[in-house]
Amino acid sequence: MANIIQFTGLSGAGKTTLANQVKEELSLDGYRVTVIDGDVYRRGLCKDLGFSRADRIENIRRLGTVAGEMSDYYDVIIISAINPYQEARDLLKQQYQALLVHIDCDIITLRLRDTKGLYKRAFLPNEHEDKIYNLTGVNDVFDYPEFPDFRLDTNNIDIALSVQLLKKYILSAVL
Ligand code: ADX
Repeated sequence: MANIIQFTGLSGAGKTTLANQVKEELSLDGYRVTVIDGDVYRRGLCKDLGFSRADRIENIRRLGTVAGEMSDYYDVIIISAINPYQEARDLLKQQYQALLVHIDCDIITLRLRDTKGLYKRAFLPNEHEDKIYNLTGVNDVFDYPEFPDFRLDTNNIDIALSVQLLKKYILSAVL
């Protein structure tokens, strides 16, 4: 059953916020929804993983495995992670028919928002001790998803509208 939705999008694009708010909304309508969040799982099951290509692909594989195990017990499962490699996204699609939703936001907007301060650190001069060298979309890979099942452009719309658009898509695609 295709009830797994894999998000992809840069840090700060709003993946976690949107996933949690859509979950709240759909739950009020009586649907069973759960969110598998990259940040959360990186503190537990994926604690041993870093941000190399191999580790990020392994991270998504594990989140997919968890989603697969849960899929009989929920109406919708959202995997919310940066999920930067098309190879990993394709694997989840093959294995679990996981739909791909791109939470799109341009880097200029993300640099302005910079909720976690990661962009500021990635743009520091090379020798700076706080510099991050592998931030997705700045100095690390983000395979732009050419053919997502749904793309949400969050540059020009607010969270409330984003949630409604996402909810509408999920209701049409999954439920
Ligand atoms: S993924 O690339 O493997 O899908 P995931 O979504 O689990 O990433 O974790 C990303 C989170 O790790 C970000 O929200 C951010 O808080 C943190 N993080 C720390 N360093 C980096 C980095 N170099 N690139 C991206 N995210 C980072």
